Amino acid sequence: MAITTLGQFIIEKQADFPYAKGELSRLLRDIGIAAKLVNRVVNKAGLADILGQQGDINIQGEVQQKLDVYADTQFINALKMGGECCYVASEEHEEGVDLSANTVSKKAKYIVCIDPLDGSSNIDSNVSVGTIFSIYRRFHADRPIQEEEILQVGRKQVAAGYIIYGSSTMLVYTTGCGVNGFTLDPSIGEFCLSHPDMKIASRGALYSINEGYYSKFPQAVKKYIKYCQEIDPATSRPYTSRYIGSMVADIHRNLIKGGVFIYPQTSNHPAGKLRLMYECNPMAFIVEQAGGKASTGTTTILDIQPQTLHQRVPIVIGSKEMVEQVESFYL
Ligand code: AHG
Ligand code: MN
Ligand code: MN
Ligand code: MN
Repeated sequence: MAITTLGQFIIEKQADFPYAKGELSRLLRDIGIAAKLVNRVVNKAGLADILGQQGDINIQGEVQQKLDVYADTQFINALKMGGECCYVASEEHEEGVDLSANTVSKKAKYIVCIDPLDGSSNIDSNVSVGTIFSIYRRFHADRPIQEEEILQVGRKQVAAGYIIYGSSTMLVYTTGCGVNGFTLDPSIGEFCLSHPDMKIASRGALYSINEGYYSKFPQAVKKYIKYCQEIDPATSRPYTSRYIGSMVADIHRNLIKGGVFIYPQTSNHPAGKLRLMYECNPMAFIVEQAGGKASTGTTTILDIQPQTLHQRVPIVIGSKEMVEQVESFYL
């Protein structure tokens, strides 16, 4: 089978993107480069002195892992050197990183929101982790960046994607014309098209939720969990419970097999745990482009007007009919 590398694919698909003159292509290339650098370290984490805690507490109130910081540095450096990005909002930085002063990127059109390392709690146990990115266009390229350009509604994303550092390393992204998956071939150091035009089944038999928080869940979610566990062969129930603790890995599995992932509000996370700008919006864009659905249980994720950079929202995401089934319990 002929190999199509990520670079070739982006150029071929250039036509889908009327007003980009190659900038978005170069931006996606820059992200691919950083992904390979992070992958190299993730693949030998036990040998590369990259396990364990960096020790600092990030804006999320989490103890930063060494790999959180390493990945954050790699992606920000790649975006800075690439010159196509003027501003990076990262999980690991309270304020965004303004690259517009950098002469190379002062006319840069794109803003990137990124979760450099998703699933940090899984690093030391060698369980799949990921990176999530979301790309917006600036409104004006000739003045200081405005907050309204950063806090754009998810529907305005021009591209979104994730890398999953798993049994193989994949980069999955959309520019609004469907979803395509690329698998890293380490022997040539290229992401190669392996999952063209990815679609999520309208229903599946997998549900993903941290049931340890059952007592803290809203009634609707408690009812849905019971629904999943009822015996009804006609709807493939009881479903199978699969929860990895890395959002990217849980959602990627459900994208491939069909299923629903839920991180609802709980009594200790009243707005949910996952962040809108660099976890929920990009994953919602990808899953919607693959034919699935993403909501808070009551509101479509991509229609939420962000108020703050690290804003958290509840999320129900995956196979369309399964998301709608969860939503029915919120009514
Ligand atoms: P991150 O490692 O980027 O902070 O994200 C971790 C998130 C997400 O990946 C995962 O779905 C969720 O945390 C798991 O949370 P619980 O451990 O509370 O289930
Ligand atoms: Mn994350
Ligand atoms: Mn993270
Ligand atoms: Mn984190």
